[in-house]
This record gives sequence, structure tokens and C-alpha cells, in this order.
Amino acid sequence: MSTDSPLSPSEAAGTAAEAGAGATARFLAARTASATSSQERVAQLAGRAIRALNDVILEEKVTYDEYNALKSWLITVGETGEWPLFLDVWLEHSIEEVANEDRHGSKGTIEGPYYVPDSPIQKSPATLSMRDDEPGTPLLFQGQVTDVEGTPMEGARVEIWQADDLGFYSQFAPGLPEWNLRGTVIADDTGHFEINTVQPAPYQIPTDGACGQLIKAAGWHAWRPAHLHLKVSAPGHQLITTQLYFPGDPHNADDIASAVKPELMLDLADRKDGQGRVTTYDFRLDPEA
Ligand code: DHB
Ligand code: FE
Repeated sequence: MSTDSPLSPSEAAGTAAEAGAGATARFLAARTASATSSQERVAQLAGRAIRALNDVILEEKVTYDEYNALKSWLITVGETGEWPLFLDVWLEHSIEEVANEDRHGSKGTIEGPYYVPDSPIQKSPATLSMRDDEPGTPLLFQGQVTDVEGTPMEGARVEIWQADDLGFYSQFAPGLPEWNLRGTVIADDTGHFEINTVQPAPYQIPTDGACGQLIKAAGWHAWRPAHLHLKVSAPGHQLITTQLYFPGDPHNADDIASAVKPELMLDLADRKDGQGRVTTYDFRLDPEA
């Protein structure tokens, strides 16, 4: 829609409260059954986590002022809906490492807080839904989905979601069309896919909320390097949730979410027709367990 300016002030003014509340609402909507852990498992995990925090308090001689600052901060994280942001930035990478340690196919990495299921389905070759005047360098993202032996996965699904050229995600920042830069692309009968999109910008986790407060107080930075998010799947195979990164991004080496892996680095070239850039990335799916 050409009425949506690519640089609308409302988009540029997206806040932690909006992103955080959106991420919390999305998580609650997708939540299915509650945890089924045994009493032993709960006691083990909660017991160890509480002991680990007590160790920090005793070893660092944490004061009442610091304890009250922690209480106040934790309350704010909840009030601003930033628990999904906090958890996905600082803990999800370890969860993902455990979840995917037995895979032999493509590497996964964190999902993050901004996945939305059921994005519009298109057959390859596809162009992601975007504004007429979508800013950013055009990118042709192509590849093939196979199993771990290299057998093509006919009709594989490649779900993609990404930030725009300002680092904003549709449905979590105001002023963007609902499915902007989100889509589900069905590979052809040889497992190949072609997706036309634009290069995402590096993403800064919201700095005006509780997570931003912590980052500032600790003197850290809030950046994730530019990335494409993907979920790739085919019948009889394990879905892989991953991200792909762009060489040369200043934050590839110090991603605040610790989600970059060398295997997830794209190899980009200029397109021969001068229309932006092209990159090829193949996915190998593990068989269902
Ligand atoms: C966050 C945002 C992302 O885009 C991502 O990939 C991971 C984490 C966040 O704001 O928590
Ligand atoms: Fe992201």
C-alpha cells in the first residue's frame, strides 16, 4: 500500500511497551498445555536455579539496595510485557543448544519473540508481501531443501520472517502492513525455493523498557546483527528453526542474543541484472525421531 510511508514517524517511534506487549500477547495466544514436568524435575530445576542465585548473592555480597533494585526491575519487566524479550535474548540460545544437539542436518538457532504462525502461503518463486516503496536493498534468497543424504524434499515449506530496513518487525511495531516481510514459501518438486525480499537492518532490542534499562545500567549494547528468521519443514522430517546472517555486520561477533553460528553465515553476491543482491543457502532436514 503506497499510503504507508516507509519512514512513517509512528513506525520509527515503536516502543518497548508495544514490542513487549505484542510479544507477550503472541506467546499467551500460542500457549497450549501447561508443563508436564514431574515433581522431581521441578524440584531439581527450581532448586538448582534458586541455589545458583543464592551463590551469586553470597559470593558478590549483594546489598539490600541492590536486592530492592532487582525487585523493582523484575516488576517492571512483567508490567511492560518484556519477559519474552528478556528470555529469548539471554536464555533461549542455551535451550536451543540442548534441543538440537542430536541433529546432523542444518544448524538451528533461537526463534526469538517475533514469530507469527500462518503467514500467507505462496509457491516458489515468491516475493514476500511488502510495501510498494519498501526501503532497503532487494535480496533474492534461494536454495534447496534436502534430507541429510541430499535427497530433494519436494514441496518443503520455507517460512520466513524478518525486520525491515529500519529494523522493525510487522505486527510488533506500529504502522506496518500485517504480513510485511513475512511469508510461507512452498519449494518446487526439486526442493528448490526462490524468495524475493529486501535485506533486513541490524535490530536493536527495545531500549526504552526494562531490558533496555538493564543494558544501559550494565554498559552493554542492545544490538542483534541483521538476520533472516526461518522455519523449514517437510513431511517425515524435523522442522528446523534458524536464522541466517550477513557477513560484515559489526555485531556478528557480539550478538546480544548469542544466536550467531559460523554455519549460519550467508554468502552474498551482486545480482547480474544490477537488482540488488543474491544469496544461496541449502537446508538439510533430519528425519523425524
Ligand atoms: C529479540 C528480537 C529478535 O528479533 C530476535 O531475533 C531475538 C530476540 C528480542 O527483542 O528479544
Ligand atoms: Fe529477530
